[in-house]
Amino acid sequence: MKLIYRTDNDGLLKLAYSKDEISTAVQRLADAISNDYAGQKLLLVVVLKGAFIFAADLSRRIGLPLEIEFVKLASYSGRETTGKVKITKDLETVIEGKNVLVVEDILDTGITLEFLLRNLAGRRPKSLKVCTLIDKVKHPRGAFTVDYTGLYCSGGFLVGYGLDMDESYRELDAIYEVTDLPSRGGLNDNSM
Ligand code: IMP
Ligand code: MG
Repeated sequence: MKLIYRTDNDGLLKLAYSKDEISTAVQRLADAISNDYAGQKLLLVVVLKGAFIFAADLSRRIGLPLEIEFVKLASYSGRETTGKVKITKDLETVIEGKNVLVVEDILDTGITLEFLLRNLAGRRPKSLKVCTLIDKVKHPRGAFTVDYTGLYCSGGFLVGYGLDMDESYRELDAIYEVTDLPSRGGLNDNSM
């Protein structure tokens, strides 16, 4: 495994998925989507910010006419996604009667996506499906179905290829696991 240090304060990042592994997964998703929606128009609803790089690559490999819209969500309460969710940037088009495919970066608890799907379903699209690059849960989810999953990962906190930690690392072209946070390995480490 390749280890990289970004700066003295950024902790340690361990390669989780290389550029090539991501590219292969994205191509596989694009092929499945192109096949399933052949002959139809498709509206991608991209969840900001994390899915922006994934969506840029995916959209260019789906060989179908696309519309692309963006939505941004936030939790009401603190850092954890256990609280209520709200839309902070809504779609700019009507989705009634359209084939809608939600494009997400990563699913953890699924609370964010469950909220979004319920909201979008109320706008009466022709169809509503989900594509995520990464799912941290291998077993089927209770509240909703994930139709297209690029990679399964039960591991820790991932950054890169759009995924952030406190708004850093989105620009990295591979995906890394954060293996050591500065607060644990730095001056505050009581074990020293
Ligand atoms: P959920 O509501 O618990 O499924 O949280 C999903 C959202 O939390 C994702 O869309 C990401 O924005 C963020 N998130 C969850 N896990 C990670 C991770 O490992 N790295 C970066 N962001 C994550
Ligand atoms: Mg996200």
